[in-house]
Amino acid sequence: MTARNVLVTGGNRGIGLAIAVAMRDAGHHVVVMSRSGEAPEDLEAVAGDVSDTASVDAAFSAAEAKFGGPVEVVVANAGITKDGLLMRMPDADFDAVIDTNLAGSFRCARRASAGMIKKRFGRLVFVSSVVGLYGGPGQTNYSASKSGLVGLARSITRELGGRGITANVVAPGFIETDMTAELPEDRQKAYKAAIPAGRFATPAEVAAAVVFLASDDAAYISGAVIPVDGGLGMGH
Ligand SMILES: NC(=O)c1ccc[n+]([C@@H]2O[C@H](COP(=O)([O-])OP(=O)(O)OC[C@H]3O[C@@H](n4cnc5c(N)ncnc54)[C@H](OP(=O)(O)O)[C@@H]3O)[C@@H](O)[C@H]2O)c1
Repeated sequence: MTARNVLVTGGNRGIGLAIAVAMRDAGHHVVVMSRSGEAPEDLEAVAGDVSDTASVDAAFSAAEAKFGGPVEVVVANAGITKDGLLMRMPDADFDAVIDTNLAGSFRCARRASAGMIKKRFGRLVFVSSVVGLYGGPGQTNYSASKSGLVGLARSITRELGGRGITANVVAPGFIETDMTAELPEDRQKAYKAAIPAGRFATPAEVAAAVVFLASDDAAYISGAVIPVDGGLGMGH
């Protein structure tokens, strides 16, 4: 196992925190990026807003100073939702979700690419969603942003695949987070009935897929979409 310099966006809570902890437990050097720049669970943190290029660049520079070298693994996990019906969705809600989820991931990949090319090693992991492949009513902005990550990863794979850099997508389904815990009991039951596994995933189950994609063992996996959804999105 080679210890890598790992930056996890949105790694201060939720799924990103589970990824950061799993990466650290796997022996990597981890820095999390969030807008607050606060570090939970003894993790190193930098402040950065993925919707702002200068902020992303500064956050990467701060992380590299902590590592004493380039970022070798980027987990682009930061994401937001602003759900609403198509007919009534304001431009601002569409733009904000695309800007954070899709363009934010692009900004991080672009900033990391020079160091990765120089090192002839890099792992880009984009956290998408089953909704990006399956669609979701009231989620045109979110779904478009998440399916856009597939094109992003596959184009990076074609551009940089010969330089030891891989770019992959992890597509979680329903995950046990504060958001799903707040769903009414009957809605939770209905969702679980649609999931072949019959349950929601834990954040750690998403993290395990990300840890694998970042590992030396996954060197020949690129441009892939790995669902972690209990079978919900099969075939999409
Ligand atoms: N929860 C689910 O069931 C589920 C299912 C499928 C996919 N996903 C995806 O998994 C990822 C994590 O989801 P989650 O449920 O763990 O989300 P969450 O608890 O709402 O956390 C979102 C994270 O993104 C960060 N973030 C948001 N906007 C940011 C920005 N402009 N710049 C930097 N960081 C920003 C937040 O940090 P600060 O607000 O502190 O800056 C926070 O750490 C998201 O991409 C989401 O779309 C989630």
